[in-house]
Amino acid sequence: MKRTKINDLLNTPTIGSEVLVKGWVRTFRSNRFIAINDGSTINNIQAVLDFEKEDENQLKRITTGSSIAVTGEVVASQGKGQSIEIIVKSFEILGDANPEEFPLQPKKHSLEFLREIAHLRFRTSTFSAISRVRHAMIFAVHKFFNDKGFYNIHTPIITGSDAEGAGEMFRVTTLDIENLPKNEQGKIDAKQDFFGKETNLTVSGQLEAELAALALGQVYTFGPTIRAENSNTTRHLAEFWMIEPEVAFNDIHDNMDLAEEMLKYCVKYALDNCAEDLTFLASRLEEEEKSKPQDQRSIPLFEKLNFVVENDFVRLTYTEAIDILKRSKPNQKGQFKYPINEWGADLQSEHERFLVEKEFKKPVILIDYPAKIKSFYMRQNDDGKTVAAMDILFPGIGEIVGGSQREERLDILKEKIKTFNIPEESVWWYLETRKFGTVPHAGFGLGFERLMLFVTGMTNIRDVIPFPRTPKNAEF
Ligand code: 4AD
Ligand code: MG
Repeated sequence: MKRTKINDLLNTPTIGSEVLVKGWVRTFRSNRFIAINDGSTINNIQAVLDFEKEDENQLKRITTGSSIAVTGEVVASQGKGQSIEIIVKSFEILGDANPEEFPLQPKKHSLEFLREIAHLRFRTSTFSAISRVRHAMIFAVHKFFNDKGFYNIHTPIITGSDAEGAGEMFRVTTLDIENLPKNEQGKIDAKQDFFGKETNLTVSGQLEAELAALALGQVYTFGPTIRAENSNTTRHLAEFWMIEPEVAFNDIHDNMDLAEEMLKYCVKYALDNCAEDLTFLASRLEEEEKSKPQDQRSIPLFEKLNFVVENDFVRLTYTEAIDILKRSKPNQKGQFKYPINEWGADLQSEHERFLVEKEFKKPVILIDYPAKIKSFYMRQNDDGKTVAAMDILFPGIGEIVGGSQREERLDILKEKIKTFNIPEESVWWYLETRKFGTVPHAGFGLGFERLMLFVTGMTNIRDVIPFPRTPKNAEF
């Protein structure tokens, strides 16, 4: 007999039919009721045994975590909590899970504990739900861009350019690190390395995406992004996934429109396609929030997601934001760790969260940042001191998107890389796109795991990627 997936069985049950179901035992109650999950849905199927008919030694093997194949008849359920169940005709234990050793028991485990057993946490309702939502979000991203006529570009993971300046990089080398070859200056001789030059893991696919956009019109990357920043926060990973669209002929306003549309599309996609998993995650969040004081509780998950889909994001300039922050209560009362005294200050996450969560209570798009605190490639505004940068700030998360209109004017770009101390020869290929048929263009980067945090209501970024890479942690 062919295996029926539990999701298909629950969605289109045929009462009276005989089915074969395979999965992992979540619980086994009263020597009678087996809850089985096969990952196709958050819901378990209940299989009902007549223990008097079964071999006692086989019954003992039905434990939480063991894998099982069950054949039986589909009947309308007598009990509460499920519409159908299976009356077991025969079962076979496929793999035992010794209850003395299996770390997942049918009780609530802390997220911290589950991180230590990341190889098994897929077996929990929380992580299987997150994994399914993550898949749906990946699919939504590709669908959004495909439907708009964008081309997906694979940009390199090993990069020879160190110009991005987006973060500290991981060196890639095949040199014998116990015995590094040195050149005449006593420095490591990168000429002898695999690529004949110094190489690193990429911190962004943007520069290469720009090259493609200036021929294909609209492109996007969706790839692993690796940064050796030693920031042990709930919002930073050393290895994360970033989506970077890049569009020829777009200005900063088109760029904001695209980013807002994309974020709304993805959230709406989750609402439309992940209802069961989100319902589970919403109740999980509600449970968690109960332990917090009333005024510190976040709004319910569905309310938050619908709010983003239905409301326009607030758009304002950095200068306007600084004025608001300067006058704000926490600034006046000295409650910010980094007080805002003057124009030009870099915004910290406490400031971003104040704007989003207290001042506007909405996602905020900030534009026109001081040139000094942003990257070299961002387009200089006519005022000479700001650039057409754009950051999107989300409640509970802070920065979710960073992007800009790009500097398309060769002379200004050359000046810029000089002030940023970037050797011209290291970006000669980037500069040539400005030399030959340059056009205004714009793009942004969306941190995929930050989007996942928002959509799932989880609060630690380590819990929305299967195998988090953070300082001192690369176990699985
Ligand atoms: O603001 P960032 O550094 O921008 C860039 O890398 C540009 N090249 C993007 C572009 O214009 N094409 O990063 C973009 C986003 C951030 O807004 C954040 O959501 C996410 O990437 N991000 C991280 N996510 C997880 N862990 C980290 N360490 C992250 N660093 C950035
Ligand atoms: Mg940024």
